[in-house]
Amino acid sequence: MFHKRMNRWRVPKGAELTEMDKKILYYQNKGCLVPTRKLIKTPEQIEGIRRSGVINTGVLDLVEENIHAGMSTAEIDKMVYDYTVSHGAIPAPLNYEGFPKSVCTSINEVVCHGIPSEDEILEEGDIINVDVSTILDGYYSDASRMFIIGKTTPEKEKLVRVAKECLQVGMEAAKPYCFVGDIGNAIEKHARKNGFSIVRDLCGHGVGLEFHEEPDVEHFGKKSTGMLLVPGMVFTIEPMVNMGTWEVFIDEEDGWTVVTEDELPSAQWEHTFLMTDNGLEILTH
Ligand code: MF3
Ligand code: CO
Repeated sequence: MFHKRMNRWRVPKGAELTEMDKKILYYQNKGCLVPTRKLIKTPEQIEGIRRSGVINTGVLDLVEENIHAGMSTAEIDKMVYDYTVSHGAIPAPLNYEGFPKSVCTSINEVVCHGIPSEDEILEEGDIINVDVSTILDGYYSDASRMFIIGKTTPEKEKLVRVAKECLQVGMEAAKPYCFVGDIGNAIEKHARKNGFSIVRDLCGHGVGLEFHEEPDVEHFGKKSTGMLLVPGMVFTIEPMVNMGTWEVFIDEEDGWTVVTEDELPSAQWEHTFLMTDNGLEILTH
């Protein structure tokens, strides 16, 4: 039985070691999980992802301006599709592993991967996550926001706020040459402190050249565990915060919709980030 081999940081024969090589080799020799070279984006790739992110943000801004009680989630899907293609891009979810629509719309107890539908009408008091992902010239970006439809309960308002804070707290925990676990640790602490739980079955991810790349970015865990994060890496942080239990199930009928086990509400915010020498830069602002 073979284990999945740990990534190996390779330096071309004869090449002089850069400061980055030295740091990565130091952690590799300690047995830490390190990135492969492919996960460190070139300046050209970063520019491509940045341009993709601009369109992705445009989509979310458009949704923010137009979302209202009485509209269907299919109308959101149409807005996303039309804006994206008219800007020369492709909605990444469309046909991704069989996903049938251009965007994920996840209302109340739906954690993520909700499928837009004509029959699903937004109601006063709903909280909804709209998760938008864009491919431009082969470069991927990925971000989501929560929207409160009209006025909701103080509990749901708090959930939406704390989920946003969790993203912020995770972002601040991410320093160059930290580990994925440092981010997750900070996020889970913040959720717990507020009486909420963190979904464990879904995580953030590397992104840019593909929709989902290494590393897995878990939103819980121990400091100094998981992959080493070095400048040039691009990944999402997207904590899913539940009012009740962290446990979830997948709707059997559609095979996609992720729902909280206790059917209490869930909230999520997501950005695509670039690790720089000074910490994270948001590419989906
Ligand atoms: N946008 C989701 C993420 O943040 C992935 C959605 S996959 C889809 O990773 F197929 F449901 F679109
Ligand atoms: Co994502």
